[in-house]
Amino acid sequence: MSMKTILVQADAASIAQAASLLRAGEVVAFPTETVYGLGADGTNAQAVAGIFRAKDRPADNPLILHIDQPGMLAQVTDSVDARAQALMRAFWPGALTLLFRRLASVPDIVSAGLPTVGVRMPSHPVARAIIAGTGCPIAAPSANRSGRPSPTTAAHVLQDLGGRIPLIIDGGASGYGVESTVLDITGNRPVLLRPGGVTLEMLRDVLPDIEVDPTVLQPLASGQEARSPGMKHRHYAPSARVVVVRGEASDVSETICRRAAGAAVQGLKAGVLCAEEQVDAYEGLTVYSLGTTADEMSARLFGALRAMDAQGVDVIFAEATQTQGMGLALMNRLLRAADFDVIDV
Ligand code: TXA
Ligand code: MG
Repeated sequence: MSMKTILVQADAASIAQAASLLRAGEVVAFPTETVYGLGADGTNAQAVAGIFRAKDRPADNPLILHIDQPGMLAQVTDSVDARAQALMRAFWPGALTLLFRRLASVPDIVSAGLPTVGVRMPSHPVARAIIAGTGCPIAAPSANRSGRPSPTTAAHVLQDLGGRIPLIIDGGASGYGVESTVLDITGNRPVLLRPGGVTLEMLRDVLPDIEVDPTVLQPLASGQEARSPGMKHRHYAPSARVVVVRGEASDVSETICRRAAGAAVQGLKAGVLCAEEQVDAYEGLTVYSLGTTADEMSARLFGALRAMDAQGVDVIFAEATQTQGMGLALMNRLLRAADFDVIDV
């Protein structure tokens, strides 16, 4: 697979070009408020197959359909209950993906053969304009090579998919920097499958009885079936090994400094991801501050993992964070990038 990839700024002309490529069954990368997406016409199975090819995505990992107006939902599902309506009123357009029972007209490949389908109405004006211009639900996973950190800039998309897709629309850095929250509302109780831009606390203000799937912060137990197929694949991973260190701040920095020195003895280059207020504890090391708030830290995480790779880091030591608010999405992504390699101190 090798083709010329064009990267252009988002404007009326490039948005129209994106919509016309999508209508013709091609794939196009575009910005959303969470991360960049790789879109295809969600009603066209062949077009959707192009997404799996470009990303090297396992065929058992379902995609999210993106709509630009509530009316489009009727093309995808007929099971919109009062809970769904309350959630849509509160959080759409925005960073919330809801799972619905899927209509037979939705191609199997979109939801990897599952009876459900994920739907999201993004708030990003460029994403909305592209969907509106195409006129159909757009299937779009994050626009990274499968397994890599999700792209939060057009340059990240080019790194991963250059030569494999025809067009990247550049709309600047993603606001959230982590993906949407995925909520399964097809059962008796709503289940949070992936924490994201809309926090658990915000969701519970609307539906107090939401459960959190155990795989949000723990590995899938052996023999257990994944409710979200994406959770069984290694994810968000840079080339470097990632180790999460959890505990009291001074113990964490002491442990990381000791481990980093140990890595250096073995000829390995160590990097550190930490909170802004901890930077001084890592003098002399390759440090990347993620910021002070969980919102800031999650927005910078994926870019930081890519930056560590670019600097030739072999092993990344990352400070664990609290799990309130956006902290839950942040820890979920960090733990997966680390493949659950955690040191408790
Ligand atoms: O913010 C986002 O959601 C971005 C932007 C582009 O919208 N998209 C995104 O898509 O992150 P993707 O494919 O990278 O992640 C979708 C996740 C996967 O973990 C997948 O397994 C899960 O949602 N998922 C999708 N449909 C599902 C379904 N029917 N049942 C269970 N899990 C589903
Ligand atoms: Mg993804």
